[in-house]
Amino acid sequence: MAATSRGHTEGVKALFKASLNAPLELVDRPEPTPGAHDVKIRVMTTGICGTDLHIQAGDAAAAAMISPPLIPGHEFYGEVVETGELVEHVSVGDRVSGEGHVVCGMCRNCRAGRRHLCIATQSVGVQRDGAFAEYVVIPQSNVWVHAEGDITPELGAIFDPFGNAVHTALTFPMVGEDVLVTGAGPIGIMAIAVARHAGARRIVATDVSEERLAMARAAGADDVVDVSRERIEASQRRLGLREGFDIGLEMSGVRTALPEMVENMNHGGRIAMLGLPTGEIPVDWNRMVTRMITFQGIYGRQMFETWYAMSALLDSDPVLRQRIASVVTDVLPATRWEEGFAAARSGHGGKVVLDWREL
Ligand SMILES: NC(=O)c1ccc[n+]([C@@H]2O[C@H](COP(=O)([O-])OP(=O)(O)OC[C@H]3O[C@@H](n4cnc5c(N)ncnc54)[C@H](O)[C@@H]3O)[C@@H](O)[C@H]2O)c1
Ligand SMILES: [Zn+2]
Ligand SMILES: [Zn+2]
Repeated sequence: MAATSRGHTEGVKALFKASLNAPLELVDRPEPTPGAHDVKIRVMTTGICGTDLHIQAGDAAAAAMISPPLIPGHEFYGEVVETGELVEHVSVGDRVSGEGHVVCGMCRNCRAGRRHLCIATQSVGVQRDGAFAEYVVIPQSNVWVHAEGDITPELGAIFDPFGNAVHTALTFPMVGEDVLVTGAGPIGIMAIAVARHAGARRIVATDVSEERLAMARAAGADDVVDVSRERIEASQRRLGLREGFDIGLEMSGVRTALPEMVENMNHGGRIAMLGLPTGEIPVDWNRMVTRMITFQGIYGRQMFETWYAMSALLDSDPVLRQRIASVVTDVLPATRWEEGFAAARSGHGGKVVLDWREL
């Protein structure tokens, strides 16, 4: 806490990247102040995501995304402590998460109500200061207020990636469909749980980590494939699928995953791809065309339809809620952030969350 008796502020703790090549450090930064339409949130928990690992490393992906100085962090939960003078719909004391994509409001898609397709999106913790900090400031329109007592700080910290999973898994109707999920990272695992809830028939998950494949099974996958050892086709035979998968959810971003998915799709199959590849991927376009396969890229969450779906899903299905909550496998005090980043980088376990409540 940093407010002084005179109402002035001292520094507050934040993970800070002074320049692309500077190390990420826990330092004192000025306490942020909300503009007229903004909300100031006392951060309780922040999830560590692949984007944050790129930012920590200062690698080519980070160079393409960020403009330091920057406080990263975009997956968070906290309590509203101050609202700008024109804020009407969010109150001090609300427990909230935040949609990390701040949209322009004026491009064609924004004006048509398709804000997830804004051409000038600014991302919290990427192009503006984020939530690896005691406080974060975001526009009122980006705040998602949780129902009272409904969401733990740990679960609240993963609403952003849960939203990626929900957005991707609900892109195509799931009922009765055979579904292939490539990549059982935290988002792939959540997508499996959502697909199971949404009525999928058979769900197959791939990864190269036995630990993550076990998590995929626990989340509702009927079969798993370690693609470092066997081909997806073997799983089709095990499950008695005769024509291929109806829906593919690409959740790895790994170069070889999409081509093998395409090989295993039924005619008329539908693919939603969230995974972010680092380079170009060769795809059998002849097969895509002649089998009339639909491909849908997925970015972020639909504003705010996905958020309503997320809260409703958790509210309606205790099994799904437990499966989503169990994706958080490590919670560390923010002072141990380096350990947390190392754990996230290791690719073991599930989501790593930092806790800012006791600094
Ligand atoms: N489009 C978006 O808006 C958006 C948002 C968030 C994340 N993403 C991307 O979604 C993907 C999933 O995110 P995450 O946080 O779960 O990431 P993650 O890196 O934790 O998960 C990826 C998983 O893929 C596995 N994998 C590695 N090689 C594989 C292979 N050959 N086949 C199948 N799986 C393989 C890894 O072991 C890991 O478990 C990442 O590519 C991430 O960059 C995209
Ligand atoms: Zn993220
Ligand atoms: Zn816009």
